Amino acid sequence: MNREDIVFNYPSKVIFGEGKSRELPEHILQLGSKRPALITGPNMPKTEAFGQIKRTLQDAGLNPFMFHGVEPEPPIELLEDASNMIRKEGCDLLIGLGGGSTMDFTKVLGVLAKWDDVVLEQIIGINKVPRKGLPVILLPTTSGSGSEVSPVAIFTFKEEQVKKGIVSPYLVCDVAIVDPVLTWEVPRHITASTGMDALIHGIESFISINSNPLSRELSLSAIRKIYGFLERAVLDGKDRQARYNVSLGSLLAGMAFSMAGTAAVHALAYPLGGEFHVPHGVANTVMLRHVLEYNLPGNEKLYEEMAQTMISPLKDRESKKICPDDVIDLVMKLAEAIEVPSRLRDLGIPKEAIPRMAEAAFEEKRLLGNNPKQLSVEDIRLIYERAW
Ligand SMILES: [Fe+2]
Repeated sequence: MNREDIVFNYPSKVIFGEGKSRELPEHILQLGSKRPALITGPNMPKTEAFGQIKRTLQDAGLNPFMFHGVEPEPPIELLEDASNMIRKEGCDLLIGLGGGSTMDFTKVLGVLAKWDDVVLEQIIGINKVPRKGLPVILLPTTSGSGSEVSPVAIFTFKEEQVKKGIVSPYLVCDVAIVDPVLTWEVPRHITASTGMDALIHGIESFISINSNPLSRELSLSAIRKIYGFLERAVLDGKDRQARYNVSLGSLLAGMAFSMAGTAAVHALAYPLGGEFHVPHGVANTVMLRHVLEYNLPGNEKLYEEMAQTMISPLKDRESKKICPDDVIDLVMKLAEAIEVPSRLRDLGIPKEAIPRMAEAAFEEKRLLGNNPKQLSVEDIRLIYERAW
């Protein structure tokens, strides 16, 4: 395939807008469901967003089976239990309401609950899922993972202390409903770290060697919206305009990386999550500066384009010429302003862990293969040293 060719593989419906989650019952009925299941994490039932979804379903005469057991960065073992439960209850559609962990979990659960011949261990990796599972509707409550449009699901393997992905077009959900109102209650530090993840999706998909003309436009729009509004969304979670733009930016970034992929920032971040349980957005932010510095030589034009997108041309008409490394300063200043850590040592990770983290990151071939520059284990080790 030519590098500039475009393959477009998204949910059949992507619905975006304030209040759109109230349309959920229509979509459940359109998909022919008689017995849906609502999948969330344990804290979700305490939120107003959950209460609103529950009332919407009840008003439509729908009484879904409730599963509230999704842990953050979910361990793979949890899937077997949940899938037995869904089968026993005779559920015919899954609704995932939550952040990236809940949505990733729901996507794979749809496959396991429908097909008892599908073995979890055999679908880890790329294109190993044999066929589509139960219909899935996803409603993100954080603006970060892009899981509502992506074919990717990430799980923690506790014994090996690693995170691994399941990637398949059969994991793309049927309906994604992105309602910024669902993000209003998200606490500051989670808005900050998930927002950085979304911004990094925009950046990494933009510089990915597998980007195409459509994904690059989506990446730049995502960067512009998230960079422009994330600080405001963190400072005031009820800032409607900020929440709207960060939600839309996160969706656009998810669409961009669903085509172009993410790259070395994500590859180097995964060992921090797998072994030290650093939240995904924080792990990415810690690696960001150093991976961007490594990738800069040879990619100056792409960096300049990103910096140009971030700096409003009107505001800075008089300012100095834009340099490629401005993009690094701008994103790291934003991370500092919204108090997302940017050094490995601040996360309590011992320096001695660096060699084994470098070995683990080097195995992330799926992500490293998208990176604009190749990395050896030694390159990765040096990047970790700088980030420490
Ligand atoms: Fe991510």
